[in-house]
Amino acid sequence: MTTQSISAKPGAMPVNTSPAAVKRYHPALVALHWLIALLILGTVLLVQENEGGERFEGARGNFQQQSLQQANPPSQDLDLDEAPQGLPQAGFAPQSEIQNVFSTTGIHMLIGITILVLLVIRLIVRWTTKHPDWAGTGNKFFDWIGGLTHFGLYLLTFGMVITGIILADQRGILARTFGIGSTPGSFGRGGFSLGFLHGGIWTLLLLLILLHIGAALYHQFVLKDNLLGRMWFGKRTE
Ligand code: HEM
Repeated sequence: MTTQSISAKPGAMPVNTSPAAVKRYHPALVALHWLIALLILGTVLLVQENEGGERFEGARGNFQQQSLQQANPPSQDLDLDEAPQGLPQAGFAPQSEIQNVFSTTGIHMLIGITILVLLVIRLIVRWTTKHPDWAGTGNKFFDWIGGLTHFGLYLLTFGMVITGIILADQRGILARTFGIGSTPGSFGRGGFSLGFLHGGIWTLLLLLILLHIGAALYHQFVLKDNLLGRMWFGKRTE
């Protein structure tokens, strides 16, 4: 097997251009990569939107939404475990009070669960299809950070989904929205809430996403090795 080596820049790691090697990822993987990226963006924008006021609807179901908001204007820090007097307590709404699937939190949860399914499919496609050689930078440390970033992106996205599902169940909204999990939250009230973990992992994931985008742009525009082309559709072999 002949292996030519090309370097985008002096010092850059060689790229295998042998006939057996592929230039791009499998189209299914390309589609999944961009779809998951869009879904993560969408699901996060939804919860940011939530911060403006619908948060209460998401957290408690859409029952008595108005009275809740009047009793707890968004400027107040609402303790999700303490319902205002005369109102049902969080996680203890009657089973008939259904959380709206089309509330922002409902859609956030739906997209999040979809991301989990797509992530599993993506890993299967990744393991079963040919992919281009590692696109090195010529710097061992950067390459090591690159590998770690890719692993971290998978791990933290998976962590987001799992903590999100547990958090939603803790609040009882998983059961009220989709009829899965339990109402009230099976993890009990006054216990350990996963809210801070879901938010904390997001901060780390956001940092990795920014690093990932920065690295892709560095490859594309500084090393000029057309890295983005590898994650796009087109002929895979020379
Ligand atoms: C990659 C997938 C996901 C991402 C990127 C994501 C991101 C976020 C972010 C950034 C927040 C706001 C955190 C904060 O304010 O500190 C949040 C809140 C939340 N997420 Fe997720 N999430 C994901 C998946 C899920 C899943 C699968 C579920 C449940 C099935 C879920 C349920 C929730 C709930 C209940 C909240 C609180 C919403 C509220 O307070 O109204 N998330 N999510």
